[in-house]
Amino acid sequence: MENLKGIEEQALNAAAQAQTFDAVAKVRAEFLGKKGALGLALRSVSKLPVDERPKAGQEINAVKVRVEEALAKAQQAIEAQKREAELDKGRYDVTLPGRRTLQGYAHPLRIVEEEIIASLAPLGFTVAEGPLVEHDWYNFEALNIPADHPARDMQDTFFVAPHVVLRTHTSNVQIRTMVKQEPPVRILSPGMVFRHDDVDPTHSPVFHQVEGLWIDEQATFADLKGVLHKLAHDLFGPATKIRLRPSFFPFTEPSAEVDVSCVVCADGDTASCRVCSGTGWLEILGAGMVDPAVLSAVGYDTDKVQGFAFGMGVERIAMLRWGVDDIRLFYENDLRFLRQFSGAGRA
Ligand code: DAH
Repeated sequence: MENLKGIEEQALNAAAQAQTFDAVAKVRAEFLGKKGALGLALRSVSKLPVDERPKAGQEINAVKVRVEEALAKAQQAIEAQKREAELDKGRYDVTLPGRRTLQGYAHPLRIVEEEIIASLAPLGFTVAEGPLVEHDWYNFEALNIPADHPARDMQDTFFVAPHVVLRTHTSNVQIRTMVKQEPPVRILSPGMVFRHDDVDPTHSPVFHQVEGLWIDEQATFADLKGVLHKLAHDLFGPATKIRLRPSFFPFTEPSAEVDVSCVVCADGDTASCRVCSGTGWLEILGAGMVDPAVLSAVGYDTDKVQGFAFGMGVERIAMLRWGVDDIRLFYENDLRFLRQFSGAGRA
Protein backbone atom coordinates (compact mmCIF):
# COMPACT_ATOMS: atom_id res chain seq x y z
CA MET A 1 0.00 0.00 0.00
CA GLU A 2 2.94 2.33 0.53
CA ASN A 3 3.61 1.90 -3.16
CA LEU A 4 0.16 2.97 -4.25
CA LYS A 5 1.09 6.61 -4.64
CA GLY A 6 4.21 5.68 -6.64
CA ILE A 7 2.23 3.31 -8.89
CA GLU A 8 -0.34 6.03 -9.61
CA GLU A 9 2.37 8.48 -10.51
CA GLN A 10 4.02 6.00 -12.81
CA ALA A 11 0.72 5.11 -14.48
CA LEU A 12 -0.29 8.75 -15.02
CA ASN A 13 3.13 9.54 -16.45
CA ALA A 14 3.06 6.56 -18.79
CA ALA A 15 -0.48 7.51 -19.94
CA ALA A 16 0.58 11.08 -20.62
CA GLN A 17 3.47 9.91 -22.73
CA ALA A 18 1.62 7.33 -24.77
CA GLN A 19 1.60 8.51 -28.42
CA THR A 20 -0.10 5.59 -30.11
CA PHE A 21 -3.12 3.35 -29.55
CA ASP A 22 -0.68 0.47 -28.97
CA ALA A 23 1.18 2.43 -26.30
CA VAL A 24 -2.13 3.22 -24.55
CA ALA A 25 -3.09 -0.47 -24.63
CA LYS A 26 0.27 -1.38 -23.20
CA VAL A 27 -0.05 1.07 -20.30
CA ARG A 28 -3.58 -0.21 -19.64
CA ALA A 29 -2.35 -3.81 -19.46
CA GLU A 30 0.62 -2.84 -17.33
CA PHE A 31 -1.43 -1.12 -14.65
CA LEU A 32 -5.09 -2.13 -14.97
CA GLY A 33 -4.87 -5.68 -16.30
CA LYS A 34 -5.36 -8.72 -14.03
CA LYS A 35 -1.63 -9.06 -13.77
CA GLY A 36 -1.07 -5.33 -13.83
CA ALA A 37 0.25 -3.40 -10.89
CA LEU A 38 -3.17 -2.27 -9.64
CA GLY A 39 -4.72 -5.68 -10.23
CA LEU A 40 -2.07 -7.23 -8.08
CA ALA A 41 -2.49 -4.53 -5.47
CA LEU A 42 -6.22 -5.24 -5.35
CA ARG A 43 -5.56 -8.94 -4.83
CA SER A 44 -3.10 -8.26 -2.03
CA VAL A 45 -5.85 -6.46 -0.07
CA SER A 46 -6.95 -9.86 1.23
CA LYS A 47 -3.68 -10.13 3.05
CA LEU A 48 -4.37 -7.02 5.13
CA PRO A 49 -5.99 -7.07 8.53
CA VAL A 50 -9.77 -7.14 8.10
CA ASP A 51 -10.42 -3.61 9.33
CA GLU A 52 -7.96 -2.06 6.91
CA ARG A 53 -9.32 -3.82 3.83
CA PRO A 54 -12.30 -1.57 2.85
CA LYS A 55 -10.28 1.62 2.94
CA ALA A 56 -7.39 0.04 1.01
CA GLY A 57 -9.84 -1.31 -1.59
CA GLN A 58 -11.47 2.11 -1.97
CA GLU A 59 -8.14 3.81 -2.44
CA ILE A 60 -6.98 1.34 -5.05
CA ASN A 61 -10.26 1.66 -6.96
CA ALA A 62 -10.01 5.46 -6.89
CA VAL A 63 -6.52 5.20 -8.38
CA LYS A 64 -7.86 2.83 -11.05
CA VAL A 65 -10.54 5.34 -12.00
CA ARG A 66 -7.99 8.17 -12.30
CA VAL A 67 -5.62 6.04 -14.38
CA GLU A 68 -8.57 4.98 -16.58
CA GLU A 69 -9.45 8.65 -17.09
CA ALA A 70 -5.86 9.52 -17.97
CA LEU A 71 -5.77 6.71 -20.54
CA ALA A 72 -9.08 7.82 -22.08
CA LYS A 73 -7.69 11.31 -22.39
CA ALA A 74 -4.53 10.03 -24.07
CA GLN A 75 -6.67 7.95 -26.44
CA GLN A 76 -8.75 11.01 -27.38
CA ALA A 77 -5.64 13.11 -27.97
CA ILE A 78 -4.26 10.51 -30.35
CA GLU A 79 -7.57 10.32 -32.22
CA ALA A 80 -7.73 14.10 -32.56
CA GLN A 81 -4.17 14.18 -33.84
CA LYS A 82 -4.92 11.51 -36.40
CA ARG A 83 -7.95 13.45 -37.65
CA GLU A 84 -5.91 16.62 -38.00
CA ALA A 85 -3.24 14.79 -40.01
CA GLU A 86 -5.96 13.31 -42.24
CA LEU A 87 -7.47 16.76 -42.89
CA ASP A 88 -4.04 18.27 -43.52
CA LYS A 89 -3.46 15.86 -46.35
CA GLY A 90 -6.46 17.08 -48.42
CA ARG A 91 -6.62 20.64 -47.23
CA TYR A 92 -8.14 23.27 -49.55
CA ASP A 93 -6.57 26.64 -49.89
CA VAL A 94 -9.71 28.73 -50.09
CA THR A 95 -7.65 31.81 -50.93
CA LEU A 96 -6.41 30.40 -54.28
CA PRO A 97 -7.95 32.19 -57.27
CA GLY A 98 -10.41 30.04 -59.26
CA ARG A 99 -9.56 28.49 -62.58
CA ARG A 100 -11.00 30.59 -65.40
CA THR A 101 -13.15 28.81 -67.95
CA LEU A 102 -12.77 30.04 -71.52
CA GLN A 103 -15.68 32.27 -72.41
CA GLY A 104 -17.26 31.50 -75.74
CA TYR A 105 -18.09 34.09 -78.37
CA ALA A 106 -19.37 34.16 -81.90
CA HIS A 107 -17.22 33.14 -84.87
CA PRO A 108 -16.49 36.13 -87.16
CA LEU A 109 -18.60 34.60 -89.95
CA ARG A 110 -21.48 34.23 -87.51
CA ILE A 111 -21.01 37.82 -86.42
CA VAL A 112 -21.33 39.06 -90.01
CA GLU A 113 -24.31 36.79 -90.68
CA GLU A 114 -26.04 38.11 -87.59
CA GLU A 115 -25.29 41.71 -88.53
CA ILE A 116 -26.82 41.23 -91.96
CA ILE A 117 -29.93 39.76 -90.37
CA ALA A 118 -30.05 42.47 -87.69
CA SER A 119 -29.80 45.14 -90.39
CA LEU A 120 -32.65 43.83 -92.52
CA ALA A 121 -35.00 42.27 -89.96
CA PRO A 122 -36.48 45.73 -89.17
CA LEU A 123 -37.59 45.91 -92.84
CA GLY A 124 -39.69 42.79 -92.33
CA PHE A 125 -37.29 40.09 -93.46
CA THR A 126 -37.47 36.79 -91.61
CA VAL A 127 -34.90 34.01 -91.71
CA ALA A 128 -35.58 30.91 -93.81
CA GLU A 129 -33.32 27.89 -94.09
CA GLY A 130 -33.12 24.93 -96.41
CA PRO A 131 -31.23 21.71 -97.13
CA LEU A 132 -27.52 21.63 -98.00
CA VAL A 133 -28.01 18.56 -100.18
CA GLU A 134 -30.49 19.62 -102.78
CA HIS A 135 -32.37 18.40 -105.78
CA ASP A 136 -31.25 19.86 -109.09
CA TRP A 137 -34.65 21.46 -109.61
CA TYR A 138 -34.43 23.71 -106.53
CA ASN A 139 -30.77 24.60 -107.00
CA PHE A 140 -30.82 25.17 -110.77
CA GLU A 141 -33.85 24.35 -112.85
CA ALA A 142 -36.46 26.49 -111.05
CA LEU A 143 -33.91 29.31 -110.87
CA ASN A 144 -33.88 29.47 -114.65
CA ILE A 145 -30.62 27.54 -114.97
CA PRO A 146 -31.57 24.66 -117.25
CA ALA A 147 -29.42 21.55 -117.68
CA ASP A 148 -26.89 21.93 -120.50
CA HIS A 149 -27.25 25.70 -120.39
CA PRO A 150 -23.95 27.62 -120.26
CA ALA A 151 -25.18 29.42 -117.14
CA ARG A 152 -24.44 26.22 -115.23
CA ASP A 153 -20.76 26.91 -115.75
CA MET A 154 -20.98 29.92 -113.42
CA GLN A 155 -21.00 27.53 -110.48
CA ASP A 156 -18.80 24.45 -110.45
CA THR A 157 -20.95 21.89 -108.78
CA PHE A 158 -20.52 18.88 -106.55
CA PHE A 159 -22.96 16.21 -107.69
CA VAL A 160 -23.61 13.56 -105.06
CA ALA A 161 -26.05 11.53 -107.17
CA PRO A 162 -27.81 12.07 -110.48
CA HIS A 163 -29.85 15.28 -110.06
CA VAL A 164 -28.70 15.70 -106.46
CA VAL A 165 -26.14 18.41 -105.65
CA LEU A 166 -24.51 20.14 -102.73
CA ARG A 167 -26.28 23.46 -103.07
CA THR A 168 -24.14 26.00 -104.91
CA HIS A 169 -25.97 28.97 -103.39
CA THR A 170 -28.69 29.53 -100.80
CA SER A 171 -31.06 30.47 -103.63
CA ASN A 172 -32.63 27.02 -103.29
CA VAL A 173 -34.40 28.48 -100.25
CA GLN A 174 -36.09 31.10 -102.47
CA ILE A 175 -37.65 28.31 -104.45
CA ARG A 176 -38.56 26.17 -101.46
CA THR A 177 -40.18 29.14 -99.75
CA MET A 178 -42.18 30.33 -102.77
CA VAL A 179 -43.37 26.82 -103.60
CA LYS A 180 -44.84 26.56 -100.12
CA GLN A 181 -45.99 30.10 -99.52
CA GLU A 182 -48.21 32.59 -101.35
CA PRO A 183 -46.83 36.13 -101.79
CA PRO A 184 -45.88 38.44 -100.19
CA VAL A 185 -42.51 36.92 -99.32
CA ARG A 186 -39.69 38.65 -97.50
CA ILE A 187 -36.94 36.27 -96.44
CA LEU A 188 -33.24 36.08 -95.74
CA SER A 189 -31.58 32.72 -96.25
CA PRO A 190 -28.19 32.35 -94.59
CA GLY A 191 -26.09 29.23 -94.80
CA MET A 192 -23.34 27.08 -96.15
CA VAL A 193 -22.82 26.60 -99.88
CA PHE A 194 -20.48 24.38 -101.90
CA ARG A 195 -18.55 24.85 -105.11
CA HIS A 196 -15.92 22.77 -106.80
CA ASP A 197 -13.16 25.31 -106.22
CA ASP A 198 -9.53 24.81 -105.28
CA VAL A 199 -8.51 26.33 -101.97
CA ASP A 200 -6.52 29.54 -102.18
CA PRO A 201 -6.46 32.77 -100.15
CA THR A 202 -9.81 33.90 -101.60
CA HIS A 203 -11.50 30.61 -102.52
CA SER A 204 -12.87 27.73 -100.55
CA PRO A 205 -15.06 24.85 -101.70
CA VAL A 206 -17.29 25.56 -98.71
CA PHE A 207 -18.37 29.06 -97.87
CA HIS A 208 -21.37 31.02 -96.62
CA GLN A 209 -23.95 33.23 -98.22
CA VAL A 210 -26.90 35.27 -97.15
CA GLU A 211 -29.56 35.79 -99.76
CA GLY A 212 -32.54 38.09 -99.61
CA LEU A 213 -35.84 37.80 -101.46
CA TRP A 214 -38.72 40.27 -101.50
CA ILE A 215 -41.81 39.49 -103.56
CA ASP A 216 -44.94 41.62 -103.47
CA GLU A 217 -47.40 43.41 -105.71
CA GLN A 218 -45.12 46.42 -105.65
CA ALA A 219 -41.48 45.63 -104.98
CA THR A 220 -39.34 47.71 -107.27
CA PHE A 221 -35.73 48.21 -108.23
CA ALA A 222 -35.85 51.41 -106.17
CA ASP A 223 -36.84 49.36 -103.12
CA LEU A 224 -33.89 47.06 -103.84
CA LYS A 225 -31.55 50.02 -103.85
CA GLY A 226 -32.99 51.25 -100.57
CA VAL A 227 -32.50 47.86 -98.94
CA LEU A 228 -28.90 47.59 -100.18
CA HIS A 229 -28.16 51.12 -99.08
CA LYS A 230 -29.28 50.37 -95.54
CA LEU A 231 -27.33 47.13 -95.50
CA ALA A 232 -24.12 48.81 -96.70
CA HIS A 233 -24.44 51.52 -94.06
CA ASP A 234 -25.07 49.05 -91.27
CA LEU A 235 -22.17 46.80 -92.27
CA PHE A 236 -19.53 49.33 -93.28
CA GLY A 237 -20.56 52.64 -91.70
CA PRO A 238 -22.81 55.59 -92.58
CA ALA A 239 -20.34 57.20 -95.00
CA THR A 240 -20.44 54.12 -97.27
CA LYS A 241 -21.70 54.65 -100.82
CA ILE A 242 -23.08 51.95 -103.08
CA ARG A 243 -22.85 51.54 -106.83
CA LEU A 244 -24.80 49.18 -109.08
CA ARG A 245 -23.27 47.85 -112.28
CA PRO A 246 -25.23 45.95 -114.94
CA SER A 247 -24.54 42.24 -114.78
CA PHE A 248 -26.07 38.88 -115.55
CA PHE A 249 -27.63 36.20 -113.35
CA PRO A 250 -29.98 33.62 -114.79
CA PHE A 251 -32.53 34.17 -112.00
CA THR A 252 -32.75 37.96 -112.19
CA GLU A 253 -33.47 40.42 -114.98
CA PRO A 254 -32.20 43.06 -114.95
CA SER A 255 -29.24 42.04 -112.79
CA ALA A 256 -26.63 44.10 -111.04
CA GLU A 257 -23.36 43.67 -109.29
CA VAL A 258 -23.25 45.87 -106.23
CA ASP A 259 -20.14 47.65 -104.99
CA VAL A 260 -19.54 49.57 -101.79
CA SER A 261 -17.05 52.41 -101.58
CA CYS A 262 -13.69 51.02 -100.45
CA VAL A 263 -13.53 50.75 -96.68
CA VAL A 264 -9.75 50.93 -96.64
CA CYS A 265 -8.91 54.01 -98.73
CA ALA A 266 -12.07 56.00 -98.05
CA ASP A 267 -10.11 58.91 -96.53
CA GLY A 268 -6.77 58.11 -98.10
CA ASP A 269 -4.87 57.32 -101.21
CA THR A 270 -7.14 55.37 -103.55
CA ALA A 271 -4.58 55.15 -106.35
CA SER A 272 -2.25 52.95 -104.29
CA CYS A 273 -4.95 51.02 -102.39
CA ARG A 274 -4.36 47.28 -102.69
CA VAL A 275 -7.75 46.28 -101.31
CA CYS A 276 -9.76 47.96 -104.11
CA SER A 277 -6.91 47.87 -106.65
CA GLY A 278 -7.09 51.61 -106.98
CA THR A 279 -10.74 51.66 -108.08
CA GLY A 280 -12.26 52.98 -104.85
CA TRP A 281 -14.96 50.28 -105.02
CA LEU A 282 -15.42 46.77 -103.64
CA GLU A 283 -17.83 44.28 -105.12
CA ILE A 284 -19.86 42.70 -102.33
CA LEU A 285 -23.00 41.22 -103.81
CA GLY A 286 -25.20 40.31 -106.74
CA ALA A 287 -28.79 41.38 -107.11
CA GLY A 288 -31.63 42.01 -109.49
CA MET A 289 -35.34 41.80 -110.22
CA VAL A 290 -36.48 38.20 -109.95
CA ASP A 291 -36.83 36.79 -113.45
CA PRO A 292 -40.49 36.06 -114.35
CA ALA A 293 -39.34 32.56 -115.35
CA VAL A 294 -38.52 31.92 -111.67
CA LEU A 295 -41.87 33.23 -110.49
CA SER A 296 -43.65 31.07 -113.03
CA ALA A 297 -41.68 28.00 -112.01
CA VAL A 298 -43.06 28.26 -108.46
CA GLY A 299 -46.58 28.99 -109.70
CA TYR A 300 -46.75 32.72 -108.98
CA ASP A 301 -48.82 34.97 -111.25
CA THR A 302 -46.31 37.27 -112.94
CA ASP A 303 -49.08 39.75 -113.76
CA LYS A 304 -49.77 40.20 -110.05
CA VAL A 305 -46.43 39.99 -108.26
CA GLN A 306 -42.83 40.92 -108.80
CA GLY A 307 -39.79 41.43 -106.66
CA PHE A 308 -36.06 41.41 -106.18
CA ALA A 309 -33.32 39.26 -104.78
CA PHE A 310 -29.78 39.78 -103.65
CA GLY A 311 -27.04 37.48 -102.51
CA MET A 312 -23.72 37.98 -100.81
CA GLY A 313 -20.74 35.99 -99.59
CA VAL A 314 -20.28 36.19 -95.83
CA GLU A 315 -16.54 35.45 -95.98
CA ARG A 316 -15.94 38.24 -98.48
CA ILE A 317 -17.71 40.79 -96.28
CA ALA A 318 -15.86 39.61 -93.17
CA MET A 319 -12.52 39.83 -94.99
CA LEU A 320 -13.18 43.39 -96.14
CA ARG A 321 -14.59 44.40 -92.81
CA TRP A 322 -11.60 43.26 -90.75
CA GLY A 323 -8.81 43.23 -93.32
CA VAL A 324 -8.45 39.44 -93.27
CA ASP A 325 -6.28 38.47 -96.23
CA ASP A 326 -6.75 34.69 -96.26
CA ILE A 327 -10.13 32.95 -96.29
CA ARG A 328 -8.60 29.82 -94.73
CA LEU A 329 -8.20 31.61 -91.42
CA PHE A 330 -11.96 31.32 -90.93
CA TYR A 331 -11.89 27.53 -90.99
CA GLU A 332 -8.70 26.62 -89.16
CA ASN A 333 -10.12 27.24 -85.70
CA ASP A 334 -6.88 28.78 -84.50
CA LEU A 335 -7.89 30.45 -81.25
CA ARG A 336 -5.22 33.14 -81.70
CA PHE A 337 -7.17 34.29 -84.76
CA LEU A 338 -10.67 33.74 -83.42
CA ARG A 339 -10.02 35.48 -80.08
CA GLN A 340 -9.49 38.76 -81.89
CA PHE A 341 -13.21 38.88 -82.61
CA SER A 342 -14.39 38.50 -79.04
CA GLY A 343 -16.59 41.47 -78.37
CA ALA A 344 -16.87 42.28 -82.09
CA GLY A 345 -20.40 40.91 -82.25
CA ARG A 346 -23.48 41.54 -80.24
CA ALA A 347 -23.60 39.80 -76.87
N1 DAH B 1 -26.39 33.50 -106.29
C1 DAH B 1 -25.40 34.50 -106.72
C2 DAH B 1 -24.02 33.97 -106.49
O1 DAH B 1 -23.88 33.00 -105.77
C3 DAH B 1 -25.61 35.74 -105.92
C4 DAH B 1 -26.88 36.34 -106.26
C5 DAH B 1 -26.98 37.22 -107.33
C6 DAH B 1 -28.02 36.04 -105.56
C7 DAH B 1 -28.17 37.77 -107.65
C8 DAH B 1 -29.21 36.61 -105.89
C9 DAH B 1 -29.26 37.49 -106.94
O2 DAH B 1 -30.33 36.36 -105.25
O3 DAH B 1 -30.45 38.03 -107.23
O4 DAH B 1 -23.09 34.51 -107.02
